[in-house]
Order: sequence, then structure tokens, then C-alpha cells
Amino acid sequence: MHSTTIRPLLAARPTAPLTTAPGAALRVPGDKSISHRALMFGAMAVGETVITGLLEGEDVLRTAAAMRQLGAEVTQDGALWRVAGRGVGGLIEPSDVLDMGNSGTAARLLAGIVASHPFFTVMTGDASLRSRPMRRVTVPLAECGARFTSREGGRLPLAIEGAADPLPLDCTTSVPSAQVKSALLLCGLNARGITRVVEREATRDHSENMLRHFGADVTVEAEGHGRIITLRGQPELRAADVVVPGDPSSAAFPIVAALLVPGSRVVIEGVGLNILRTGLFTTLREMGAALTVLNARVAGGEPVGDIVAEYTELRACDVPPERAPSMIDEYPVLAVACASARGVSRMRGLKELRVKESDRLSATAALLKVNGVRVEIEGDDLLVWGDGGQPAGGGQVLTHMDHRLAMSALVMGLSSATPVAVDDTSFIDTSFPGFIGLVNGLIGNGGGDALRAA
Ligand code: S3P
Repeated sequence: MHSTTIRPLLAARPTAPLTTAPGAALRVPGDKSISHRALMFGAMAVGETVITGLLEGEDVLRTAAAMRQLGAEVTQDGALWRVAGRGVGGLIEPSDVLDMGNSGTAARLLAGIVASHPFFTVMTGDASLRSRPMRRVTVPLAECGARFTSREGGRLPLAIEGAADPLPLDCTTSVPSAQVKSALLLCGLNARGITRVVEREATRDHSENMLRHFGADVTVEAEGHGRIITLRGQPELRAADVVVPGDPSSAAFPIVAALLVPGSRVVIEGVGLNILRTGLFTTLREMGAALTVLNARVAGGEPVGDIVAEYTELRACDVPPERAPSMIDEYPVLAVACASARGVSRMRGLKELRVKESDRLSATAALLKVNGVRVEIEGDDLLVWGDGGQPAGGGQVLTHMDHRLAMSALVMGLSSATPVAVDDTSFIDTSFPGFIGLVNGLIGNGGGDALRAA
């Protein structure tokens, strides 16, 4: 679990491009969203679920520990993970507090699960997670009959008295959030009758896909930009093997680094390409990026492909607000790309960025500013000025316990004239263990370690 040792790093422009040798494509860790869900659904299914490619990052290990505390058997078997589930409604009261570390996904989805189980749960997390809003799930979940007690503002620690006879929910999510949608659907699994969740904007649908994969009766109807999802409660979920694709949100960092460092060309194999996750790739292509997909295929029920990213002189972008849910975790690294692009980029409708692992809207703006980039926040829009040349760099970036800010700051260092110092990169382990070594490994002969101890 997360060590308390702070890991400052310095990121410098490499003296050689980022490349993958022919036949030696890169793999990024398993998709975080799918990994959490595979463990959770496995724990509520009857039989043994075998998971290949699980992200062994701290966030997901927290979910594995929590599912064990709730009575499932979760074991690591070499590269595979096995979950012996307890069936829908079969989880047991945890004898101690569930500590979800840095993970909002783990905390919110689990709140949904335990809300419809007749026992008492207490949940907490690290300082970042304890500052994040939970009412977006606890208010609608209370409609099933569960009772929630929390700190001021609905923040963790959270005490949950699960409903003895949970009612099915019928609600519209208050924010475009797959975490909220998934919490409500997970709650509905152990409620009698039909749970109905409406989202005004479509968000990642891994829960719906996986529910089907485990044998639940789910329907999804498009409505405008949004969707209506219905789930028949108390299905018998049957164990089903899960193959986790590479996380597109993690692939984003080496991809943007390759686009920004002259002469680079990297190939990343087996990246998840669910269209509700690929807004960044669409945007980068609009910026002129040489980004291609090879071997598009379906693996484990999700579209995947191999991505080739080559250095490109980028132009500015204007990202519409409706694209935000499909790239919500990618704005910090996109903003870094915009700092090297020609023109003024505008990313619209980023309200949700304020409630991520940090206030990512302010922290991204600060990351750029401290490195000599002109940036403004106008309402919920982020504006970044680039002249097509290298940003000055030389800044000291504060990452606020946020893994994606840390990785974005390191990419900033790779593309800036002067090295960038990053206060703490230890949180990168929540989603991308091995990131530093992987990036240094991409830098060809004589490149030295571009990412190194400060
Ligand atoms: C996630 C959904 C997103 C995303 C998070 C993972 C998920 O959060 O930021 O990293 O697995 O459902 P929201 O749904 O709250 O936007």
C-alpha cells in the first residue's frame, strides 16, 4: 500500500527520442476502471472468476483487500488473479474499517454495493479521498433504504447502515459520472425489481458491459447525449473470466511524450479503445497528431488495438464540453501537449475536474504557469497558449497527491527547454506502477535517464 515516503523527481528533455524497438512494443498496465469492476463483480458472482491483466496498482489492491474483508476469496496466482465469489447478496459484514486509500472509484462503487447489504460498514481513505464529495452517491443511494453518516459536506469517513430489504432505485445521476452510475447499478444488484438509472451524458460503460458478461439482465437505451440503463435485480451472477485491456488513460502519458519529443515513435500494444474512453485520441488527431491504431480487435468484450504515436508538430485544439466524459482523466496531459502546440487551445466544460484526486483544473493551470506557459481558467474552460516551440520549463510542480498530475508534470519536463521538478511522484503507483522505468526505457541509446531523482 502507499508508502509515506515522498518521491521528488526531476524530468529533463531527453537527448534521444522515445522509441520502441521493432517487435518490442510497449504494454501499459491494465485498465483501472475494469480492474476494480472485475474484482467487485467476481466477488458477487457464484464460482471462480479468473482475471488476466489486472492492474496491480495501489487503488485496485485496495479494492481487492476490501472484497476480502467483505468475505470473498481474492488470490494472486502468478500473473492471474482469482476471485471466489459469494453470490449476489452473499457478502458479509466487514469486521474493520475499509480503507480505500486514494481511490474514488473504489469508495463510490463500494458504497453502492454495501448500501444494499444488511450490515454496517465504515469507509475511509487518504487525505485526498477524504476531501472528495460523496453526496453524489449517498443521496441517491439512500433511496434504497440505506443510511449514511459522514463528516461535514458528505465526506469520508463514512458510516453505512445497509438496507435490510433494499428498494430498487429509479434516478437520474446529478453529474456525468460513471462512478455514480455504477454505484447505483451495483446497489440495484441486490434489490428486488428493476433499477433504472438515467444519465444525461453517456459515461464509460464498463459496468454495464461487465454486468452482462456475468449474466445480469441489463438494457441500455440511447437518449440524446445520454443513456437509460435498466437492471433486473437479484440475478444469479455467474463467475466469468475477465481479460483486462491496457488502460488508455495510462497509455496517454507515453503517447503524448512521444508526440512532443522530436524523432520519437512508440508502439503500445493492447490498449482499450472503448469509444467512451477515447476522447483524447480524437482530440490529438484533430491537433494533427500522427496517431494510428493497428490490429483493432475485441478482447474480453472490449475493443482494443495497438497504438502507434509519432512526433508531430501539433496545432491548438478546441475541445467541446460533451467530449469531457470520454477523456475526463486526460485533460492534464492534454494541457501539457497544448503548451507545445501552435495557437490558443480551449478545453471546455471542465467542472468535474475540480473534484478529482485534486482540484485538477487549478492544479493543471498551476503546472503550466510555473513552467512559463500562459494559461487561463475562464469559468469551467481551460485556455492554454502555445507557439509551437518548447515551453520554458524550470518550474517546481506541486502534485497534491494526484498521480495524473505527477505523470503530466514529468511529460512537461520531457518537452520543456529546462528541467521540471516534481514535488512527489509516489502516487503514480496508484495507477501506473513502473512508469518511471518504462519512460526511461523508451529513451534510446545515450539518452540517459530523463526522469531522475531530484
Ligand atoms: C471512473 C470514472 C471517472 C474517472 C475515474 C474512474 C470509473 O470518474 O475519473 O478515474 O472507473 O468509473 P467519474 O465517473 O466520477 O467522472
